[in-house]
Amino acid sequence: MIPDEVVEEVRSRADIVGVIGAFVPLKKAGKDYKGLSPFKPERTPSFYVVPAKGFFHDFSSGESGDVFSFLMKHQGMSFTDAVKFVGARSGVEVREVRKGRGGDDPWRTYYEASSYASAFFQERLWEGRGGSGAREYLEKRGIDRSCGEQFGLGYAPKEWEAFREAASVHGIEEGILTELGLLKKSRNRDKSYDAFRGRIIFPIESVSGRVLAFGGRILGQPRKGAPKYINSPDHPIFRKGEVLYGLGRAKNDIRREGCALLVEGFMDVVSLAAVDIRNAVAPLGTALTETQAELLERYTTQACLLFDSDPAGLRATFRAADLLLSRGVHPTVVTLPDGEDPDSVARSGGADAIRGYMRRAVDVLDRKIGILEEREYFSSIEKTRRALDRLLPTLRAPRDTKLRDLYLARVSERTGVRPETLAAELKRPEETRISVRKPSVPAERLTPRIHGRGPERTLLLLLVRNRKWVDRASERISPSDLEDGINRAIFEMLIADPELTVPPEGTETAAVRRFERLMADPEETAPSSQIFEDTISRIQAARIDRRLGVIDREIGNTEEEAEKSKLAMEKEKLIKEKRDLGVDWRHSAWHHSARQALRGQGERAP
Ligand code: UTP
Ligand code: MN
Repeated sequence: MIPDEVVEEVRSRADIVGVIGAFVPLKKAGKDYKGLSPFKPERTPSFYVVPAKGFFHDFSSGESGDVFSFLMKHQGMSFTDAVKFVGARSGVEVREVRKGRGGDDPWRTYYEASSYASAFFQERLWEGRGGSGAREYLEKRGIDRSCGEQFGLGYAPKEWEAFREAASVHGIEEGILTELGLLKKSRNRDKSYDAFRGRIIFPIESVSGRVLAFGGRILGQPRKGAPKYINSPDHPIFRKGEVLYGLGRAKNDIRREGCALLVEGFMDVVSLAAVDIRNAVAPLGTALTETQAELLERYTTQACLLFDSDPAGLRATFRAADLLLSRGVHPTVVTLPDGEDPDSVARSGGADAIRGYMRRAVDVLDRKIGILEEREYFSSIEKTRRALDRLLPTLRAPRDTKLRDLYLARVSERTGVRPETLAAELKRPEETRISVRKPSVPAERLTPRIHGRGPERTLLLLLVRNRKWVDRASERISPSDLEDGINRAIFEMLIADPELTVPPEGTETAAVRRFERLMADPEETAPSSQIFEDTISRIQAARIDRRLGVIDREIGNTEEEAEKSKLAMEKEKLIKEKRDLGVDWRHSAWHHSARQALRGQGERAP
């Protein structure tokens, strides 16, 4: 058996014209291709291949289907062989997962549990009285039942154990639900409780439509302390940075329109679909990642970015744009009025309003130049020089060399710097380059003292100073990801009450003392997102390292082949995860060298 995800990846990368063209002579006809029917003798061509939709249609024999069914029908291949055949020609490695005893998809139980949860939430939304508040809320936001059902929206009742109990009756293992982040362990008792309560549920699906995780929105305005949205944590079948919300539903429309709309949130995607704009996708509450850009690249070469127009939104826009350019996707930028998002525009002005703004979308480089012009960046030589620095990342980003040349010409024209000079500037060595992915300066150089004392401590310092980040942190890592028991206890206290200043009665003395010291620590932690991100990554990397150690030991200890292969798969996934964190080998070296640096510092301190 070939996993669904792999089949989908092969399908999406397939060059259907190339594959079919190897068997049937094809001629271009507009956007499509046609030729003589390979299934029935004929004199006028009535066999069509439609690359935008990834299918063929033969009017004379009535046969139609995708690239795989062509090979099955024409070459008599099995489905598996067809997928392998196409995979080999599209650079996708196709490996079969053995079916049957033990060799089954090791994550099957996770998928089943997610899909059960999704069905539970949906039922709670549409059936019975419990969901009426949620139904009213959706209606108020312009989402009717048919649209809600298309996206599989649900409702998590405002109860502590409704889901836990239903799942238990259904015979689903609690351990799996905890791993999936659907249940949480309470701090003092053994009992688990529902993680999503009193929220509209947005199932997050893979491209092939399997439910992986959930986002949950509070009904109405969030009160202090409660985040507007909570999302499933990363878990064995879900990595936030590797999924685009809505892509499974949007992929065909993206192909058809030749363009993807990139928006910020769940509601934007759903509201746009409600006004019949169906090619929108959203990253999940974080900046666009390289993997997400790569996903989009499989479906389109054009993306239209509809993010907030405030400074944070613009930063996100440019960052996403540079990433997309580097993957060969050409980004244009839509500017919405202050305080509006695609959801609010769609609701007040419908599809026409959205399309109106999209017609005024501009190329990302032009948008950057425009902003610099507004700020009078081209008024003096000195400022022009700085403007150039800001434009360089975008000049450097395009994978498409023709586009890069156009960009060079454009910037040259605006700044009066010769294109050759600009091109030379772009070739400057790595260290002066602005990376779109990793911080340009290693974070430990920015904050040697903080980082010198370990990421767990840095995290707690950051959180104690910036309480708003507690939720952000708890979505990305869980207390159990911290190695130190006392740090773990403090993190748990902060999650339970982000505003906490005095630890609750009964907290162990060591934790109270450390918390007080954190609160009193004179060390200034700049509330820098970069340090925050870096700290989170380091903690995740350390967690992965520990797990890898355990796996290696387990692999050594087990005789069972099935168990071994499951462990090997997990190991592979973790190594990839770790690589994506971008801290990789530096991490282990880091601990050591940071300690030494700290020792040196201690000696010099007055
Ligand atoms: P926004 O705050 O812009 O929300 O967050 P929104 O999409 O406009 O939502 P509505 O219209 O108020 O319902 C954008 C995205 O950021 C993530 C979510 O993925 C959200 O869709 N987010 C936001 C969180 O993960 N947690 C939060 O507390 C807030
Ligand atoms: Mn909104």
